Amino acid sequence: PKIVFIQPDGSSQTVEAPVGQSLMEAATNNFVRGIVGECGGSCSCATCHLYIDEAWYAKLPPRDEMEEAMIEGAIDPGPTSRLGCQVLVKDELDGIVAHVPKAQF
Ligand code: FES
Repeated sequence: PKIVFIQPDGSSQTVEAPVGQSLMEAATNNFVRGIVGECGGSCSCATCHLYIDEAWYAKLPPRDEMEEAMIEGAIDPGPTSRLGCQVLVKDELDGIVAHVPKAQF
């Protein structure tokens, strides 16, 4: 499936990722700017924060408590914020659009 990452300046990058990979891994494997993934995906750094496009956000499984807490501590969280390491690529999410925040820390 494809994932579209959009930078704060409006430029976009479409990457291909296997099912089961996280959006954070898909971003770091493809050198998408602004996604750090410092903790390696254990939901404890929030440097993989993304704003999911609204239409896509609704299709995702809900945030769990730990993710919720980490997002609260992220820079400038919004209603469609997710941690990239907690969202897994699926066929149904082909074409998902995720906006990269201006800053992660
Ligand atoms: Fe650290 Fe997602 S990579 S919280």
